[in-house]
Amino acid sequence: MSNLNLKAVQPLFYSPLSIFELEDAEALNAQLLAEASVRRDASPGLSRSNWAGWHSEDDFFERTEPGSLALRNHIVQAVRACTKNVSPNFDFSAYGIQAEGWINVLGRGGLNTPHDHPAWVWSGCYYVSVPEGDKELSGNIEFFDTRTNVRTLTVDGAACFASKFVMKPKAGMLLMFPSYLRHWVYPNDSDEDRVTVAFNVRFVRSVQS
Ligand SMILES: [Fe+2]
Repeated sequence: MSNLNLKAVQPLFYSPLSIFELEDAEALNAQLLAEASVRRDASPGLSRSNWAGWHSEDDFFERTEPGSLALRNHIVQAVRACTKNVSPNFDFSAYGIQAEGWINVLGRGGLNTPHDHPAWVWSGCYYVSVPEGDKELSGNIEFFDTRTNVRTLTVDGAACFASKFVMKPKAGMLLMFPSYLRHWVYPNDSDEDRVTVAFNVRFVRSVQS
């Protein structure tokens, strides 16, 4: 019997990507699609990391449409869960949550170039509609290794040794990750729109009386 005992493994500098799935999301997604369509008709949108496509104003958390309000509640719930995961003793009562959010609509060939979301804590995305696309990689999201100054040999099957992580989202999925984590979205290889709601979140300490 070995006398070598593993005492602890500390996940140093790791980047938690949390993957949520909303049950029975069809009705909410239909509502969000309708709200996005109305807004798109009313606004030319913004130009950010979107290559083609439409990017709404950053006011998702100020909207009063029913679908937007419902999704906002789910996002706040996810923020609390992700924060509890990395900081079990985090005192939510001592902080307010600041957030911005926006709708992305990517038509055929639309993509998001590599970027991160500086000055925030959590970033995330809710998938309203994800077309299949003709190519396997269509509409995938890819995350880059944050350790840009090192190259290690990989260990097959071990995500922490890989230089990137690619996943295929589906409608009803919500991703949340640290805002520093660079990512991009592969081109939409479909005639159907890829529609998402993206958001950034940070905490602001409440004023003590
Ligand atoms: Fe992003």
